Amino acid sequence: MPIVRNKKIEVLFSAEDIARRNRELAEAIALGDLSNILVLSILKGSFVFAADLIRALHAAGLAPEVEFISVSSYGTGTTAGKLRLLRDVDTDVQGRDILLIDDILESGNTLRFVRNLMLERGARRVAIAVLLDKTMKRKVDITADYVGFQCPDHFVVGYGMDVAHAFRELPFVGVVTGEA
Ligand code: IMP
Ligand code: MG
Repeated sequence: MPIVRNKKIEVLFSAEDIARRNRELAEAIALGDLSNILVLSILKGSFVFAADLIRALHAAGLAPEVEFISVSSYGTGTTAGKLRLLRDVDTDVQGRDILLIDDILESGNTLRFVRNLMLERGARRVAIAVLLDKTMKRKVDITADYVGFQCPDHFVVGYGMDVAHAFRELPFVGVVTGEA
């Protein structure tokens, strides 16, 4: 089991598993009906997945434009589910086909917020790609069009995802299981 920063980390999805799945996702996206794709990566958690997926999209014959957006939930508890925009896109999305990319689809609040914002601004289509889907945690009615892996109900880190700002750099997705 890998040990990082004095923590034992159990690998759930290896770098090889993820690379293989990214190629499959890109091929599925290339067969879909999105045209002139604008990839919209939701920061920060999805930046590693987005970086790999756009190169897999290139290998699958697509030439996406890439944009970033950053949203944050207002605190926790009673206000959970309310989101605000921290960083907006730099481009006009009117009439565009958008591929929203996030690390994890959990309650669905984040992706619903961003999808609705893009549709309100006149996007033609909004498709969703996520590396991980925690379907058991869904609170709003939203599904992803492209899912890397079903994720067990654990807090995961690595491949862009953090706990208290740590572990984004890991090349795999794992679960912190304890002190080394
Ligand atoms: P949702 O709005 O509840 O769907 O939350 C999705 C967001 O929560 C993702 O973009 C992640 O940034 C974060 N998140 C959810 N589960 C995890 C996890 O297990 N590890 C790290 N981040 C997570
Ligand atoms: Mg996130």
